[in-house]
Amino acid sequence: MSDQASHGAQLLTLTRAARLVGVSRGALQKKIKKGELETFEGMVKPEDLLHAYPDMQLEDNTALEHFTQIKDDAFIHRVRERMLPEPEVLAERLSGLSKELANTRAQVERYKTITDWLYDKFNEYEKSGGNEIRHIIGPLKLWLRHELEKQSPSDYLQSYTVKESFLRLMTAQVRLLPGQREFFVEGSDTILDAALRAGISLRYGCSNGNCGLCKARVVSGKTHLMRHTDYTFTESEKNQSYVLLCAHTAVTDIEIETSEIGGIQDIPKQEIATRVKKIEPLGDDLALLHLQTPRTKRLQFLAGQSVTLESSNGAEADYPVASCPCDDRNLQFHLLRQRDNRLAEYVFKKLKSGDIVSLVGPKGDFTLNEDSPRSLIFLAHGTGFAPIKSLIEHAMARDMAESMHLYWVAGENGHYLNNLCRSWSDALDNFQYTPLPAEKANTVSVLKQVIKDHPDIGEFDIYAAGSLEFLKVVETTLVAGSQFPAMRLRTCHVE
Ligand code: FES
Repeated sequence: MSDQASHGAQLLTLTRAARLVGVSRGALQKKIKKGELETFEGMVKPEDLLHAYPDMQLEDNTALEHFTQIKDDAFIHRVRERMLPEPEVLAERLSGLSKELANTRAQVERYKTITDWLYDKFNEYEKSGGNEIRHIIGPLKLWLRHELEKQSPSDYLQSYTVKESFLRLMTAQVRLLPGQREFFVEGSDTILDAALRAGISLRYGCSNGNCGLCKARVVSGKTHLMRHTDYTFTESEKNQSYVLLCAHTAVTDIEIETSEIGGIQDIPKQEIATRVKKIEPLGDDLALLHLQTPRTKRLQFLAGQSVTLESSNGAEADYPVASCPCDDRNLQFHLLRQRDNRLAEYVFKKLKSGDIVSLVGPKGDFTLNEDSPRSLIFLAHGTGFAPIKSLIEHAMARDMAESMHLYWVAGENGHYLNNLCRSWSDALDNFQYTPLPAEKANTVSVLKQVIKDHPDIGEFDIYAAGSLEFLKVVETTLVAGSQFPAMRLRTCHVE
């Protein structure tokens, strides 16, 4: 549905409704499932939304606060880029809102003229008519006056309207066809950037307007070209409103026809010369390696997949990517120092910021089952946390899972990103974190705890990553012991 249509019908998409009241889409779906919020073909009425969230502080507007900060400090260039749309886009959206305001004013004037005329007619009939007419007209007049003098909308409703308009000024919603997935384009993001940030894997290649792999047909709404492109569309494509998603942003809410990546088979093997951005120690024998790809050659991968890293001395090893595909340029890896691993030795002894590390991949099928409506349990052992982190960040970006529970059994380097996990559970109502010390938790007792915490474990999807020994116990205890469906347990070996 186009922006105008959805607005005219006064219905909100779930994505927009969730953003307005500041909850996850998953939380909204939970309310719908429980019958606490009514939907109309996947949309909700503003009044139902306000009724379902009566305590929501609409005035507590983070976006507005950010905006004020930006005004206060003109030098926060990066933040401004992230928050504010291009001036041309902002101007078009403002012009759209102004037209809407003008139309609404004209309509209000028209209604006022009609009611004045009606009131005059009532007076006329009251004077000229007999008793019977007066008995009918009197209460009608009273009712009309009462309705006209009613209080203007409450502060709460006004605050909602302000926030809704502000959201429409600062962001545009994209709906993908035929899948109906939705996401917001914010700031100066391209449609492709915004899709990746939302955890949606679209087809793309160069990210630079050259290869044409990201082209898609705009079915409704307006887009804006943000950078020069070399790709040439055919006449037929031009007539059908094709655009490059890596070079366009959305001005209004839009619908586009495009195909998402269906699975690992759709992602090509890539060879990329990355640069070391930073090496952070995470423990005596553990480092967090930050690699950055060139702007025009980013790594396309699915959360949970691995790549082969090769240093300039020819040493190579496979590592799971420990970051989310929503940032396809900045990649993270958790490297454990192991005697027989020449690459890790090289990283600990010689590698420094600015050096080149070659990357080949992605590979592996430890990926999220995105079609599953089930809640998620993550079991990490030691540095098995790396691919689990990627999955969790992706699941958060997708905002689909009703609930997630992470159990992390410490390896030799403890829970080396404990604060990060705690911040996830502090920030999200639907995320639970249970760190388990290595010495107290053998794998069987961990699984007993998981089953005790979740007696309905059969309703979950489970993702486990760690040593072969750990995975073997998980498989035998869960699948053989508890008859957990093997199809819903995905595992990844990480030493
Ligand atoms: S990804 Fe190559 S043109 Fe968009």
